[in-house]
Amino acid sequence: VKQDRVVRVALLGFGTIGSSVYRLIQKEHDQILEGTGVDLRVAKVLEIDMSKVPTDAEPSVFITDFSEVLSDPTIEIVVELIGGTTTSFDFVDAAMRNGKDVVTANKQLLASRGQALFSLARDEQRHLRFEASVAGAVPIIKVMRESMVAAELHTVYGIVNGTTNYILSRMYNEEGDYPEILAKAQELGYAEADPTADVGGADAAAKMAILASIAFHSRVTLTDVAFSGIQGITLEDVRYAKGLGFVPKLIGAARLLDGKVSVRVFPALLPADHPLASINGSNNAIFLQGDAIGEIMLMGPGAGGVPTATAVVSDIVSIVSTNEVGFLQSCSCYRQLELYPSEDVESAFFIRVSVADRAGVLALIASAFGEHEVSIASMIQKGRGDEAELVLITHPTKERQFFAAVEKAKSLECCQSEPMTLRVL
Ligand code: HSE
Repeated sequence: VKQDRVVRVALLGFGTIGSSVYRLIQKEHDQILEGTGVDLRVAKVLEIDMSKVPTDAEPSVFITDFSEVLSDPTIEIVVELIGGTTTSFDFVDAAMRNGKDVVTANKQLLASRGQALFSLARDEQRHLRFEASVAGAVPIIKVMRESMVAAELHTVYGIVNGTTNYILSRMYNEEGDYPEILAKAQELGYAEADPTADVGGADAAAKMAILASIAFHSRVTLTDVAFSGIQGITLEDVRYAKGLGFVPKLIGAARLLDGKVSVRVFPALLPADHPLASINGSNNAIFLQGDAIGEIMLMGPGAGGVPTATAVVSDIVSIVSTNEVGFLQSCSCYRQLELYPSEDVESAFFIRVSVADRAGVLALIASAFGEHEVSIASMIQKGRGDEAELVLITHPTKERQFFAAVEKAKSLECCQSEPMTLRVL
């Protein structure tokens, strides 16, 4: 039987997500009350920049001193939306020690200092919920922790960065080369003024560390994730890939290999009929594979204030609706698995390289790959005067062997450019 219950929350931070959560709680208050019995009230908002305070806000709600949240026993849930990994850590830590449950959207905090915070949540018997930290509105954390509990997940492939997916989608549609599409993305507000974390793969790496920790029940931190970004990809590369039936995507790949964990982020080529190849624009998607489920994919808006705010509000309501603390309150990791060495992972590759266009060159390149047991699956060549452009796709091979073959090819006198290499999923 549903009983109405007042729940007072504090929001830390009133930026894009914080202000969206504030507005969404105002807008959805009555429906949430009707549907769940939770009478949600924003009791305090911690924001040091007073220029952000809305004119219609009750002045006593907006505060600049966090101790006012800690000392208010009527506040049950603290929602951390300030970002970073130092002040946010101290606030989350103090909130749980003071008997408050926590909701956070902070992927960097969880990916780098999650272990300490989840241990504290367990010791203090508090909730630490983080649906909004990965893929915005897409309810991937809940699905993985609850619905996939018996799925025996072994692979999580994610498109978990909207900025890079927007850029690569537009490059695939041949709307421009990387620098101009990035500039357009910044103009439209998809990409930050400093887009390094997005285009360089660090943002996706933090999200994949979180997803891998849940999928494999073994803590993966940001430093365990090897990542590279999309900065080196040119329109020419994309055109060749498209001609061969592939779509470029920034992919997060978390896999269980021989009982060890491999988590990486890299630009990859996907066959055009792969479910992730159809994810366009700034959308995110997570593709799960497990022994017991086959394949499941979730997709949707991975960023933006309002979509992300829906994940925050759902975490708040889940906390209130969970009797005691429940298994979802804290860490899903009950074991610590070893990391799988990156160079032992097997991958197929795309290679594009300029070579001298004369007799015997193809044989030289082919033998460099053959010597390292890298088998070539397909090849195209385009003549350009004295030079030719070679594009090869390999069969899957240990990455150690592939990169040794590339080094060998580079050292050949006929090789006239730095080879461009991309993994093929
Ligand atoms: N900057 C991220 C993206 C959204 O482009 O997907 C926030 O995690």
